Amino acid sequence: MLTRRSFCQTFATGAGALLVPARLRAGTSSAPLPLTATAASAQLAPAEYPATRVWAYDGHLPGPEIRLPQGARLTRDFVNGLDQDGTVHWHGIRIDNAMDGVPDLTQAAVKPGERFLYDFALPDAGTYWYHPHARSWEQMARGLSGALIVEEPEAPDVDADRVLVLDDWRLNDDAQIAEDFGAMHDWAHGGRIGNWITVNGDGGFTQVLPQGSRQRLRLINAANARIFELSLKGMAGWVVALDGMPLADPRPVDRLALAPAQRADLIVDITAETGDEAFLVSHERDGGYAIAAFPVEAARREARTAPPAPLQPNPVAALGAMDTARKVSLTMEGGAMGGLSGAELNGEWRDMRALVGAGKVWAFNGRADMPDDPLIRASAGETVRIEIVNDTGWPHAMHLHGHHFRRIGPDGAAGPLRDTLLMQRGERAEIAFVADNPGDWLLHCHMLEHAAGGMRTWLQVV
Ligand code: C2O
Ligand code: CU
Repeated sequence: MLTRRSFCQTFATGAGALLVPARLRAGTSSAPLPLTATAASAQLAPAEYPATRVWAYDGHLPGPEIRLPQGARLTRDFVNGLDQDGTVHWHGIRIDNAMDGVPDLTQAAVKPGERFLYDFALPDAGTYWYHPHARSWEQMARGLSGALIVEEPEAPDVDADRVLVLDDWRLNDDAQIAEDFGAMHDWAHGGRIGNWITVNGDGGFTQVLPQGSRQRLRLINAANARIFELSLKGMAGWVVALDGMPLADPRPVDRLALAPAQRADLIVDITAETGDEAFLVSHERDGGYAIAAFPVEAARREARTAPPAPLQPNPVAALGAMDTARKVSLTMEGGAMGGLSGAELNGEWRDMRALVGAGKVWAFNGRADMPDDPLIRASAGETVRIEIVNDTGWPHAMHLHGHHFRRIGPDGAAGPLRDTLLMQRGERAEIAFVADNPGDWLLHCHMLEHAAGGMRTWLQVV
């Protein structure tokens, strides 16, 4: 029998109720809805523990699910209710550059108490998400993130469409967030890995589902640095989309690695018997444990037998000719056991000791942190190939803003569209995409401590 993960060696069953303050409403019907980053509290740990002080959008944990039809505009008036700079980044959606939410690259940071109107079109259907891009390694670890769901004109044939936001928390014995932000040990190793996992803000997530029903599960990894290794028990299904983009051929779910920022849309059939439970299982070195439980109730209709049809593709430009494409390479270096002797920072070469003193422990192509010049300057419509070499002792989750890319296999075959690529230590990967979205776009590791510790560069599309 699967068990839940224990918390501080004790475990109480039962889902903690979330504190959900009333949602803020705009003053008039025509004013855009606010989206407020604010302090809040939530029952993350079992009920015998106190509520955890978090930061949350509109006081909800995770943030309010924003759900709009494909082709609609998203309009939200971001209010920074924190005492530090903020922005909102709309992860994975191919967006107008000015709305991308990267401080000092696409907009000025939003100061405490100030606002910024995000207003942009949603070209693609799928599972996306939003989160801060200022001190994200602290703001996201404190709870700021939410789902952005863009609905297809024609929904797939399922009984329900559910969003599961997976998050990882580092909590103290009193269930409060450990304040050791900026710990260089985390930055130089695998990032801030927590000791408590929640699904939709709940450490004991439970949802009753009918036997034989077909469910769409939209998984989002909102953790700072944890890579989830997932499997299903008591349900069988297919991966139908990755990082928002439909797969041409849905593939059966076996083990599913979900790196920070990645999403997977599953369509699953509940196969456990009535009265049993189905589970979403997370695997770690010490075995597997359920992070979400689905008690099974009596069937309401006959189970479907045909596998799900693929979702309609999004309007992403097809790759151009590879042999004439612009090519650039990117070598990731640094971190613990990486043997980096130094790197350029702010235009000057620094040795490792000086880099660590400046909080930088990683580099791309010998440069730590954002260079003045982009990694590549592409003209709109050009196909770009990036050969990425992970010359470090750690896995990384490379995220490109504003575009989806395909991984090109050694045989030249193009993989599915993605916005975040998990790269194992020592791995080499080539990605290719059509640079058709003008502006300045970040390319960084989505292990947030790695990004803050130097793994950031940018591309310019003109
Ligand atoms: Cu999810 Cu640069 O972001
Ligand atoms: Cu990384």
